[in-house]
Amino acid sequence: MSLKKIACIGAGYVGGPTMAVMADKCPDYTITVVDINQERIDAWNSKKLPFYEPDLDSIVKKVRGKNLFFSTKVEKAIDENDIIFVAVNTPTKTYGVGQNMAADLQYWEIIARQIRNVAKRDKIIIEKSTLPVKTAEAMETILNTDTNIHCEVLSNPEFLAEGTAVHDLIKPDRVLIGSRNTVSGIKARDEVVEIYSNWVSKDKIITTNTFSSELSKLVNNAFLAQRVSSINAIAGVCEATGADVQEVAKAVGADSRIGSKFLQASVGFGGSCFRKDIMNLVYICRMNHLNEAATYFENIINMNNYQQHRFVNNVLKAMFNTVAGRKICMYGCAFKANTDDVRDSPAIPIAQALIDEKANLVISDPKAMSNMEDELGNVKNVTYIKDPIEAAKDCHAILIITEWELYSNSELDYEKIFTDMVKPAYLFDGRNMVNRKDCYDIGFNVYSIGKKPLIHS
Ligand code: NAD
Ligand code: UGA
Repeated sequence: MSLKKIACIGAGYVGGPTMAVMADKCPDYTITVVDINQERIDAWNSKKLPFYEPDLDSIVKKVRGKNLFFSTKVEKAIDENDIIFVAVNTPTKTYGVGQNMAADLQYWEIIARQIRNVAKRDKIIIEKSTLPVKTAEAMETILNTDTNIHCEVLSNPEFLAEGTAVHDLIKPDRVLIGSRNTVSGIKARDEVVEIYSNWVSKDKIITTNTFSSELSKLVNNAFLAQRVSSINAIAGVCEATGADVQEVAKAVGADSRIGSKFLQASVGFGGSCFRKDIMNLVYICRMNHLNEAATYFENIINMNNYQQHRFVNNVLKAMFNTVAGRKICMYGCAFKANTDDVRDSPAIPIAQALIDEKANLVISDPKAMSNMEDELGNVKNVTYIKDPIEAAKDCHAILIITEWELYSNSELDYEKIFTDMVKPAYLFDGRNMVNRKDCYDIGFNVYSIGKKPLIHS
């Protein structure tokens, strides 16, 4: 087995950054990242990377062409490398059994068969994608039936968050490696431990059995999303009672048993993974006849959908139940700050609901506008303006959807913005970004998530 050579199949949000950091931290290894998407690979090989991620440019620039290579030659990479990470997409199934719940494993299955066809010697295959429990076992069956070579499939889920991916990869809370407890399983696990040991201390490398590792990734995302849904449920209670959700989050988060992270009330969580991974967990629960557990996790999603509807309903209610023909400005469409990713962004259903209400929408975002345009398609009554001051001109309302720092009072001249808006001017702050008292004093009617509105009589 030729070591010190690694391949990664899938050059997306996970494959690209993960391998860039790995190449930087492991100069002895040569890493080849392959993908079937020519455009993506061309972008990785160009000055403009395929997506925006803070600090990624400099790290890629440092290692690309030295020990990190991007290519579309998938079979060549399988042939030449014996340690193969697989970071392809695992979207929710949109057809057949498990529709809208189970993970669509066709991309993984294709790769398992491709590896089987190409491999001429033993390989270690590492699941980087998020997968249902028992996928490794299923893939080993495909890979190892009726053949002389042996492929050991490990689970090594990725926990990076977009917007902080490089930091998360350099300083992970932990690295999780699941393997079988057999001689070949432990040998393969030790190879992967050795790679990470180049920059992650041993006490942060957790080894488990494969099933625990696969399941832990789904549970991790479910627990994070559950906190957001919990605080969003409380946001409604705060708006109704006069409590302030940020004060409640601070008080509750100060309990060291609870902790302060993931307690920011919002227009709801988005991103490519929370919904998909929770539905995957729900499906696993249902398949194992654990219906109460399934319903429990499903309610995290129901609460998130409700929060998005509630936000739109609050806008309508405040604006005399009609936005038809009125210009409404959305600040932010990325699913979170510091990314250009709009996958499952709350901005999408919110924009769609406002379009259905016949509003004229102006969407502004420092990075994500072109992805949003692709997502919404060629709809009438939507314009895209990057400059937030220009975007809000002649609008009746501003909706803050993404927590870009740019939308805080210290960064943006809300007095100027107010002057150029139609009166009464509304500010719906879905992320608690603005100083609401200052904005109210400027003249806005301010509706902050989880707080009683400040309305001029
Ligand atoms: P992505 O869609 O950005 O990238 C996946 C890539 O795989 C695409 O470029 C696609 O062309 C490629 N691909 C698909 N089939 C292929 C094949 N047969 N051969 C070669 N390439 C192929 O997806 P992503 O966001 O990077 O997520 C990948 C996995 O990682 C998912 O399972 C996801 O749940 C998980 N994950 C994502 C994040 C995140 O922040 N995006 C974080 C942790 C885990
Ligand atoms: C999330 C997890 O944080 C990662 O650990 C995981 O690897 C990744 O999913 C994945 O599996 O894809 P990500 O979706 O990139 O990462 O971003 P998060 O920071 O988790 O934010 C998710 C959503 O929750 C965003 O829309 C964000 O705005 C929202 N959020 C987050 C809140 O509304 N309030 C909070 O307090 C925190």
